[in-house]
Amino acid sequence: MSRVALVTGASRGIGYAVAKTLVSAGMEVLGTATSEEGAGAISEALGGAGKGYVLNVQEKSSVVDFFETIAEYHSPPLILVNNAGITRDSLAIRMKDDDWEEVIQTNLSSIYRVTKNCLRGMMKARWGRIINVSSVVSRIGNAGQTNYAASKAGIEAYSRSLALELASRGITVNSVAPGFIETDLTQDIVEKQSETMLSRVPLGRFGNVQEVAALVDFLASDKAGYITGETVHINGGMYMN
Ligand SMILES: NC(=O)c1ccc[n+]([C@@H]2O[C@H](COP(=O)([O-])OP(=O)(O)OC[C@H]3O[C@@H](n4cnc5c(N)ncnc54)[C@H](OP(=O)(O)O)[C@@H]3O)[C@@H](O)[C@H]2O)c1
Repeated sequence: MSRVALVTGASRGIGYAVAKTLVSAGMEVLGTATSEEGAGAISEALGGAGKGYVLNVQEKSSVVDFFETIAEYHSPPLILVNNAGITRDSLAIRMKDDDWEEVIQTNLSSIYRVTKNCLRGMMKARWGRIINVSSVVSRIGNAGQTNYAASKAGIEAYSRSLALELASRGITVNSVAPGFIETDLTQDIVEKQSETMLSRVPLGRFGNVQEVAALVDFLASDKAGYITGETVHINGGMYMN
C-alpha cells in the first residue's frame, strides 16, 4: 500500500510541484488549499492518486475539521510537508500588528498545529518524514521581512528540537530552505528587481519549483533515512552553510 503524504499549500508554486512529484513517486497525496475551488483543482491535478482538501492553517478550527475529515477516508499521513506560507512585508518601524501576527500564525504556529496531528500515526508506524519549508532569509536576513525571517528561523529551530524527540521512533524532521524560486510569492520582486536579485545568485538564475520538489522528494524517501535535524539549502549558491 502506498504511503500517504500530506502537503499544505499545494494549490500553487512549490507545494503544487511537491504534490505532483510525490504522486509520481508512488504516494497517495493529500494536498491543501484555502478555498473549495483550490481544493477541487488539486484533486483534478493529482488524478486518482491524490485529493485536494480545504485547510486554513491560521484557524485552529480548520485544522481540527481537516484532520477529522481525512481520518475518515485515508490512512494517517506518514509524510508531512509543511509548505503553506505567506509574506506581509514592511519595514519594522511601520509594521502593523496584524502583519506580524498573520505571518507568525501562518508560517510558524501552523507547523506546530499540523505536525501535532500527524505524530501519533507516524509513531505507531515507527516511520515518518516531516519536511518543513523554511527560507534562505532565515539565515541572511532581509530588510522589510523581520516577521517572515523570524517565522522561518523559528521553523528551523522547531525542526531540530522535534528531530531529537522523534529520532528513536524512526521519524526524521528536516527543513528545506529555498532561495529565490519563481512563484506567485516572488512574482513582484522578480518583475521589479530581477537584475539586483540575480547579481546575488552565483548560478545566475532563479530556481524553479521542480528543483525544490526533487529535494523534498528525496528527503521524503527511504534513501534519506540518515538525515535528520538538518536544514538543506537550495539557493543557487547565494548562501553557503
Ligand atoms: N518562492 C520562493 O522564492 C520561496 C523562497 C523561500 C521560501 N519559500 C517558501 O516556500 C513555501 C511556498 O511558497 P510559494 O512561493 O510556493 O508560495 P505561493 O505560490 O504563494 O503559494 C502559497 C501556498 O500556501 C497556501 N496558503 C497561503 N495561506 C495559507 C493559509 N492560511 N492556510 C493554508 N494554506 C495557505 C496557498 O493556498 P491558496 O492558493 O489557497 O492561497 C498556496 O497553496 C512558503 O512557505 C514560502 O515561504 C518560497
